[in-house]
Amino acid sequence: MKTDTQTKAIDVFLEENRRFPPQEAFRKTAWVQSEEIYEKAARDPEKFWAGFAEELSWIKKWDKVLDWKPPYAKWFVGGKLNIAFNCVDRWAKSSLRNKAAIIWEGEPGDQRTLTYWDLYREVNQFASALKKLGVKKGDRIAIYLPMIPEAAIAMLACARIGAVHNVVFGGFSAESLRDRINDAQAKVLITADGGWRRGKMIALKKEADQALTGTPSIQHVIIVKRGEFPLEIQEGRDHWWHRLMQNAEAYSEPEAMDSEDLLYILYTSGTTGKPKGIIHTTGGYLTGVYATTKWVFDLKPEDVYWCTADIGWVTGHSYVVYGPLANGATVFMYEGAPDWPEKDRFWQLIEKYGVTIFYTAPTAIRSFMKWGTEWPAKRDLSSLRLLGSVGEPINPEAWVWYHQHIGRGHCPVVDTWWQTETGMILITPLPGITNLKPGSATKPFPGIEACILNEKGEKSETGGGYLAITKPWPAMLRGIYGDPERYVKQYWSKWPNIYPVTRKTENTSLCNGVYFPGDGAKRDEDGYFWLLGRVDDVLNVAGHRIGTMEVESALVDHPSVAEAAVVGKKHEIKGEAIVAFVTIKEGIQKSDSLVNELRSHVAKKIGSLARPEDIIFSADLPKTRSGKIMRRLLKAIAEGKVLGDVTTLADPEVINRLKQQYEET
Ligand code: WTA
Repeated sequence: MKTDTQTKAIDVFLEENRRFPPQEAFRKTAWVQSEEIYEKAARDPEKFWAGFAEELSWIKKWDKVLDWKPPYAKWFVGGKLNIAFNCVDRWAKSSLRNKAAIIWEGEPGDQRTLTYWDLYREVNQFASALKKLGVKKGDRIAIYLPMIPEAAIAMLACARIGAVHNVVFGGFSAESLRDRINDAQAKVLITADGGWRRGKMIALKKEADQALTGTPSIQHVIIVKRGEFPLEIQEGRDHWWHRLMQNAEAYSEPEAMDSEDLLYILYTSGTTGKPKGIIHTTGGYLTGVYATTKWVFDLKPEDVYWCTADIGWVTGHSYVVYGPLANGATVFMYEGAPDWPEKDRFWQLIEKYGVTIFYTAPTAIRSFMKWGTEWPAKRDLSSLRLLGSVGEPINPEAWVWYHQHIGRGHCPVVDTWWQTETGMILITPLPGITNLKPGSATKPFPGIEACILNEKGEKSETGGGYLAITKPWPAMLRGIYGDPERYVKQYWSKWPNIYPVTRKTENTSLCNGVYFPGDGAKRDEDGYFWLLGRVDDVLNVAGHRIGTMEVESALVDHPSVAEAAVVGKKHEIKGEAIVAFVTIKEGIQKSDSLVNELRSHVAKKIGSLARPEDIIFSADLPKTRSGKIMRRLLKAIAEGKVLGDVTTLADPEVINRLKQQYEET
């Protein structure tokens, strides 16, 4: 728990409305030292992005920087390149050959370091192994791995041969894995016998085996041997990673990929029950993540860079693998939990490996706060020079705590706003020039244009509203896999008839060329953006996106459930927690064991990240006359803002009373 002095210090900071200007020593060596860059990039964004693209290695240079037919963008049209070449070969064939590319520690304490040459060798061999199994350009490969170097190697090997990876977070259940494999029609699954989490083995292959009972597209399964975990091998289909590597060729020619060829599909939750396969392509994506990694984290050759995100999320794609490696950086990777075996594991790792840049989520920061300052205080964190935050709004209190107790008052904190769909950071400080305000992601990255619009599409300079991105950017999504209609509707049609550039698309929906991310935001008098969370039916639980409809479908899948409505409630650590209102079928008895069963059922269907915090039985769900569930009322009930007996809403009268009460307030 917080100590008195800590609480006081944070309060004082916040009361004083304190700003955190860049320290002179930091500014002097930063990549970006002058505000002029904003204006310069705004004047000619295409030229600005092309400048970064020129720092990459192209097999053939592009003919045109941008082809924008809203909502379809093509970047670096006509250009050819290979991402694995850019992230690996370039450095392995340079004076960085012996530099550490990945330094890894497993949860039990085992360690590995791969130099750029090592990474080059492994990626080449694994690419050859995939080819030998018949993998071709354009084939989809599912990856379901723990945080081990093979995760990065597998992604890079796919990129090398032009196969499209589809990484599924290891915390997802067999069913979630199966759905994603089937939607992408993946040909190969790469998994491991298991991984470590809080001293226990997570049996990935066992989970995968369940998924594989219904995945006809899968021809081969490749298994990394992480430990001595028992598993079943299906002859002919299952292969050990290390055996394939023994017989693989040392070199695999990097495929000349078109700038707009697919790099990966990554599933994320939306407002329907079915997750969306977000598509990212090659040239623009690499340019965007390369640029932002370099400038936002002020990445330098001598840094040891640690982003704690799992490879299963977009942050793991853009800022563990592609962005840093495209910069020739040294990436630190850790397999396990932050509180194993003790609550100072992260700080111990920073001390041990001399980590200089540390990028994590507000949820983690709030847990560290709760665990107390004694844990970081025990360790030498003086190697740190920059801190980052991502995944959800960071409350000012957590920001100041992070700045003081981890950054020891001298590290800038970059609060970075972006999404799976945006591929790259869009709103963020630039650490050498931005006066930081705790809780604000500050300003759009140079070349990015954002504003706040109201429901009618009118601009609001300082008030609140919906965040909107008004120009295309290189790493933007290129669509939803297999669902072009949803792409237009979901992201480009929020203000169809109001915004000036409205046009009809081939998918009939009207599009306005303005991207709607689904987040609420406000701007202050300095033009800083303050992100306020989702405005749609998507929850953000501990930085993980979960659709309320997904959880509802999982619940109604249970034989005792007639109807379910899911909302989020504020949670001290996780930001948001899941509350489910459940109507059970007639003749079924409410009981604590049913509550547990339902919670486990959701975990089994989706993954334990979606396990509801509370389940409230309700004889009826409050609906509007048109039959829409009144989520705002349910949210108010869940958060205890509505008086009355809220533990059970068995009596329909209770709902009516609550409805009335709520409508009156
Ligand atoms: C939220 C994670 C406030 C936001 C990179 C967004 C944030 C969703 C921030 C995307 C931030 C992410 N401040 N909110 N710095 N970063 N979000 O796709 O609601 O997993 O829409 O991408 O997380 O989550 P996703």
